[in-house]
Amino acid sequence: MKKGAIFASGSGSNVENIVRYFENSKTLSFPLIISNRKDAFVHERAKKLNIPSYFFGKQQFEDGEVLEFLLHKDIDFIVLAGFLLKVPQNLLQAYPDRIINIHPALLPKFGGKGMYGHFVHEAVVDAGETESGITIHSVNENYDEGQIIFQAKCPVLPTDTPDEVASKVHQLEYKYFPEVIERFFY
Ligand code: GRF
Repeated sequence: MKKGAIFASGSGSNVENIVRYFENSKTLSFPLIISNRKDAFVHERAKKLNIPSYFFGKQQFEDGEVLEFLLHKDIDFIVLAGFLLKVPQNLLQAYPDRIINIHPALLPKFGGKGMYGHFVHEAVVDAGETESGITIHSVNENYDEGQIIFQAKCPVLPTDTPDEVASKVHQLEYKYFPEVIERFFY
C-alpha cells in the first residue's frame, strides 16, 4: 500500500472526492491532508472524512519542516488539489516524479503564476475559447509546466459564464482525477 498526502489551499471538494474514491482501495491510501491556510474549508472536510489535516505556513514548506513531517509519516507521493503555494525545491528533490497537480484548464494555455481558481475561467471566457478542461501534470520548479499526464476537454458555449465553465471543469475533475492518480502511482 502506497501512502499519499494531499495538499490543498481552499474548499477541498477534490480532496473529498479523492479520499472517498480510495476509501476501500488496496493499493493507495491518503492518511493525511496538508494546507497552507489555517482557515481553509478543507480542514472541515477532513474532520468529516475522519482524516487528520495539518496547517503549515510558507516558511515551514521552504525550510524543510514539511518534508521532515512527510518522511516521518512514510508518505510516498503527493497530490496537489487546489494548492496555491509553489512547491519548494526540498520537496521536489525528495519526491522526484512523485508530485502531481490538477490545473483547471487546458495547459499550456491559461497557466502560470496568478492563474488559479476563477481567474482561469474568466480568462478562458474573455479569450472566447470554445473549449476548456483539465490538465493533470507532474510538478516541477515552474508553475504549471511539468510533464502533462492527462487532459480532458469540455465545450465552452458563447453564452457560458466563468461560473458555468468552472462547474463543467469541476465535473471533469471529479470524474478523472482519482483514476489518473490510481494509474500514475500504482
Ligand atoms: C480545482 O479547480 C483545481 O483544479 C484547482 O483548484 C480548484 C480546487 O477546487 N487547481 P477544490 O478546492 O477541490 O474544490
